[in-house]
Amino acid sequence: MALSSQDQLKHAVARAAVDEILPMLDRQTVVGIGTGSTANCFIDALAEYRHDFDGAVASSQATADRLKKHNIPVYDLNGVGTLPVYVDGADEINHQLHMIKGGGAALTREKIVAACAQTFICIADGSKHVDRLGGFPLPIEVIPMARSYVAREIVKLGGDPVYREGVVTDNGNQIIDIFNFMIDDPLDMEVRINSLVGVVTHGIFAVRGADILLLGREDGVARYT
Ligand code: 5RP
Repeated sequence: MALSSQDQLKHAVARAAVDEILPMLDRQTVVGIGTGSTANCFIDALAEYRHDFDGAVASSQATADRLKKHNIPVYDLNGVGTLPVYVDGADEINHQLHMIKGGGAALTREKIVAACAQTFICIADGSKHVDRLGGFPLPIEVIPMARSYVAREIVKLGGDPVYREGVVTDNGNQIIDIFNFMIDDPLDMEVRINSLVGVVTHGIFAVRGADILLLGREDGVARYT
C-alpha cells in the first residue's frame, strides 16, 4: 500500500520499530523511549505488547506521561543501567546516521538515555533524511545566565542564534536555536559546541549517532544501518 501523509509515514515507522525490537523483549526488558510525535506513535504501537516487557525509561516528562497512560511502568535511568535499545525520532538525519534533534526541547535527556543504550533506532519520515545537517535550526540547551554568552560564541562560529522564548526545558534551562548553520563535520562540531561554557547539551547527535534508521517513504519503510 502506498503511504502518503506524513502521519501515515510516522505510524508506519513506529510499527516497524516495534517489529524490530519484539525479538529483544522479555519480561525483564526496559526500553528507552524518546520524545515527539513519531515517538508518540511508537509508544502507542508498543502499548499493545505491554505485558511482554518490564517498562521504559522516558526522555521527557511528556513521554513519561504518555507511557503511564498506557500503564507502562516508567523507571529512573539511575536504577536501570544499560538499556538494550532506545527508539526516538529526529529533526534531521544524514547518511552516516548523524542527527539533529531537540525540536521538542528534550535533547538533553534524549542524549543521556541514548548514551546508555546498546542500540539506537531512529524512526523518521522521509522528509528528515538529508545529505548535510543544518537545514533544521540546531537547538542548544543553555544554563539561563549563559544564554547571551553562548549566543555570542555561536555568532563567532558563523550561526544566527535565536532565543526560543517561553520555553523552559524539563531541566529548568533555556533553548537557543541556531539558524543558517550548515554542518560539514558533525563529529567535530559536536565537540566544539560542547566545549562552550554554559552549554548543557546541543542537538548534534554524532558522537552517539543512530545504529539503525527506519525511514518512512511512500513505497514503504526503508531500513539503513
Ligand atoms: C524532541 C526531538 C524529536 O525527536 C524531534 O523533534 C522529532 O520530532 P517529531 O517526531 O515530532 O518530528 O528531538 O526533542
